[in-house]
Amino acid sequence: MTAAPLEPGPVTVRVPAKVNLELVVGPRREDGYHALATVYQAVSLYDDVTVAPADEWGVSVSGPLAAGVPTDGRNLALVAAHLLAERHDGDPAHVSIRKGIPVAGGMAGGSADAAATVVALDHLWALGLDRDELESLAAEVGSDVPFLVGGGTAMGSGRGELLAPVLARGTYHWVFALTDEGLSTPEVYAECDRLREGTDVPEPVCTPALMAALRSGDPHELAAQLTNDLEAAAVSLRPALGETLASGMEYGALGGIVSGSGPTVAFLVEDNEAGIDLAVALTASGVVRDVRRASGPVHGAHVVHHRTD
Ligand code: C5P
Repeated sequence: MTAAPLEPGPVTVRVPAKVNLELVVGPRREDGYHALATVYQAVSLYDDVTVAPADEWGVSVSGPLAAGVPTDGRNLALVAAHLLAERHDGDPAHVSIRKGIPVAGGMAGGSADAAATVVALDHLWALGLDRDELESLAAEVGSDVPFLVGGGTAMGSGRGELLAPVLARGTYHWVFALTDEGLSTPEVYAECDRLREGTDVPEPVCTPALMAALRSGDPHELAAQLTNDLEAAAVSLRPALGETLASGMEYGALGGIVSGSGPTVAFLVEDNEAGIDLAVALTASGVVRDVRRASGPVHGAHVVHHRTD
């Protein structure tokens, strides 16, 4: 009697969110994107993405933060899956996403799902792609997607997709203030252009002082270097974010910043204890609807489960 061939089982990949410690937005390029100099840090808010062989392509989303995520061809996980399938002749799969990353929050939730899908399908189909191949496919899906493949702390240039490692010591503790309604990334960039109209925008570069702060491992030093050129645009579109930033600082954060294109606000705190205190204070104040605590840097998209029987 011969054994039945093994069915490739579902693969689950866990992928983190990101915060930009520095986001320098340069001039708008001819392709519509903006030249960036940024430092990403992956933080411990996660989506779990499971891919399984199916008769047809599909995506489903679950978890308390699932509202508002598209389940059609606009979902970046499906965009990534189709691209990989086209290149490597892959069979249809169903992608199930369990969301722990805020949606449209400036934490790269959609990009994270795309990164996780590429890593999961690479595993399911036993393609054996190396890190460079995974990242270059990821870059075709979106500017932030390559970073979420590797995670950690890294510098991003180009439109954010060209990565270089950054030496970072220690673990940083964050409190994220969530909002009910997301912001559209293209709208925030457009608002940034509008606010800077008529000014000469230089080519973007990262600040050496930020790199020194990351090497020191001291959250006080890092807090002093947090900057985001999209913050003014996000606050202009959502003035309440100004109040959130002020409240967090008043309740003891070392530094506060709008995360990426917002509207999530990221607060850096001294340690885990300070994070608990700030989370309680922000929630009790009523200024913030919902908070999440996290730490970083953490690893990028990684397989947590693969059923092979
Ligand atoms: O690359 P991604 O698809 O995530 O970008 C979403 C949108 O954000 C782009 O369509 C563009 O409007 C804006 N963007 C930008 N410059 C960047 C990255 C994103 O203008 N470097």
